[in-house]
Amino acid sequence: MSSVLQKLISPLASTPAEPPRNKVTVVGVGQVGMACAISILLRDLCDELALVDVMEDRLKGEMMDLQHGSLFLKTSKIVADKDYAVTANSRLVVVTAGVRQQEGESRLNLVQRNVNVFKSIIPQIVKYSPNCTLIVVSNPVDVLTYVTWKLSGLPKHRVIGSGTNLDSARFRYLMAERLGIHATSFNGWVLGEHGDTSVPVWSGANVAGVNLQKLNPEIGTDADKEQWKATHKAVVDRYAVCECENV
Ligand SMILES: NC(=O)c1ccc[n+]([C@@H]2O[C@H](COP(=O)([O-])OP(=O)(O)OC[C@H]3O[C@@H](n4cnc5c(N)ncnc54)[C@H](O)[C@@H]3O)[C@@H](O)[C@H]2O)c1
Repeated sequence: MSSVLQKLISPLASTPAEPPRNKVTVVGVGQVGMACAISILLRDLCDELALVDVMEDRLKGEMMDLQHGSLFLKTSKIVADKDYAVTANSRLVVVTAGVRQQEGESRLNLVQRNVNVFKSIIPQIVKYSPNCTLIVVSNPVDVLTYVTWKLSGLPKHRVIGSGTNLDSARFRYLMAERLGIHATSFNGWVLGEHGDTSVPVWSGANVAGVNLQKLNPEIGTDADKEQWKATHKAVVDRYAVCECENV
């Protein structure tokens, strides 16, 4: 007797399943990985999403949460596994996996531990998706992006670090907050290495094309009576704008 499925859908021709055209993989399902995954799904950027992590229980739970949200999404396939075969044919791979800095651990030691993690991850990604573009988010992001490029053997335009995008976004928010405008109305960039040594480009800071350095030639310097450079310090130290207003 035919099943409900057989009665409902009868294939007219046996065609092999086509590989995905716009598959995205996120490696690491911690806070950053899941924020990436949800953003990608809500913006409808892929036809298949794959997740990878070494923590199998968390990985399964996160995958199920996303799958159960399918009613609100357009991405038809969400898969997860600790085996990188699940990532095959990805067009884009976002790497957010990494170990955290332990108390008293030097940044240098953290780098070495994360390089070791990347040595196990990157060759697997490239094995299953040789044509992918890699986006590295794990810290220290600039060092790990370089390491990823070396480990992957991919051309440099296909290995991208998130760099100072977050720093710039925080800078734009904090500057705009102090000016009483929306972040999209303040234009300015933070360049250099992500984090402590990043550099705000005060000469380019503007609101609707009005250059702030022209309004206050000392902006961003120690001589600035308004102490705007506290905003960049807040970007690096990640404290609230209300605290930097009083500096
Ligand atoms: N570039 C940026 O702007 C930026 C911003 C925020 C965080 N980060 C960095 O992103 C990374 C992730 O942050 P988080 O808060 O999500 O951390 P998290 O600890 O919440 O998540 C990290 C995940 O990586 C997984 N992982 C560890 N080793 C792995 C391996 N070998 N293979 C697969 N998965 C592995 C862990 O199981 C965990 O789920 C950190 O390195 C953090 O410093 C970068």
